[in-house]
Amino acid sequence: EKGEYRHFMLKEIYEQPKVIKATMEGRITDSHVLEQALGTDAANLLSDVNHVQIIACGTSYHAGMVARYWIEELAGVPCSVEVASEFRYRKHVIQRDTLFLCISQSGETADTLAALRQAKQAGFRAALAICNVPGSSLVRESDLVIMTQAGPEIGVASTKAFTTQLTALLMFTLALARHNGLSEEREADIVKAIHQLPDQVDQVLALDADIAEMSKAFMDKNHSLFLGRGSQFPVALEGALKLKEISYIHAEAYPAGELKHGPLALVDSEMPVVTVAPNNDLVEKLKSNLEEVRARGGELFVFADSAADVKAEAGIHVMSLPSVHEITAPIVYTVPLQLLSYHVAVLKGTDVDQPRNLAKSVTVE
Ligand code: M6R
Repeated sequence: EKGEYRHFMLKEIYEQPKVIKATMEGRITDSHVLEQALGTDAANLLSDVNHVQIIACGTSYHAGMVARYWIEELAGVPCSVEVASEFRYRKHVIQRDTLFLCISQSGETADTLAALRQAKQAGFRAALAICNVPGSSLVRESDLVIMTQAGPEIGVASTKAFTTQLTALLMFTLALARHNGLSEEREADIVKAIHQLPDQVDQVLALDADIAEMSKAFMDKNHSLFLGRGSQFPVALEGALKLKEISYIHAEAYPAGELKHGPLALVDSEMPVVTVAPNNDLVEKLKSNLEEVRARGGELFVFADSAADVKAEAGIHVMSLPSVHEITAPIVYTVPLQLLSYHVAVLKGTDVDQPRNLAKSVTVE
């Protein structure tokens, strides 16, 4: 039931602090990840993994894209990410020491299951599922499973499934990284940041009214651009997907560094540009991208770490977010973009929970 909420999507956005916490529960201590929570054979199966192949669709694919940044940075293990419908229909190569990681909220997405079944024929070290539905086909057919504890997700636009997938993926990354030389100190530092997530997401939810106000600028627009760098690029992709799905506004996401290589030609006063800018070493680069947009009359909406020193001025709207750890930032920064698309859709009067042409679970090709 929706309870006090106008839509399931809004309820599910607000449930995130709770379900992120539930997804952590029993899987981390104060300082490290409990590897056996991934499965009794986890230590053995993860010890010889030299490559991770991630397969998923839609929002789950975006979670996989974030995970690739984490896996290569923290575990130093090469990682590829591909949408299931591409992977399954091309000639692909899978090494024997590959961990085949499928991400799916429903566990019943036809293309994702087909990719897993094909890969099994070819042979790999182990199949890991990140899934929200116990007993689903994906869970039954995998060697290791991390269940996201998001609870049923009713809104077609995925929200809490995504942030719990990211939480699960980060815990998995730490377990894999421990086999690959991650120091105890670094692990403890990141686990501490994971524990802070529910509070930080709560702080973002407190910005709801401000984000609703910001959303008015999008209501009469036909196009929008989302920019991010590093692990925030997939967050930009996910923000753009949310806006497309429920408000029917054309939204494109680009890695900020690609701006000059084409999309900058589109920017004018009718093209709002949304930027996710966490406080890390890429922020200075991002600032110069912002100037490029501004110089062309583009209106900018920047979600920035309060410590990042991005100043509001004419045409630059800044939403200050809590200071967060660079590794967990993609989880926190997803939430304001969910709220933004939600409010734009409400203003436009679309069917938020059941957007046109879409189904919750894509069980056919
Ligand atoms: O159940 P799955 O995670 O496998 O579903 C994958 C996509 O169909 C799903 O994420 C879709 O893109 C959502 N509508 C996104 O909001």
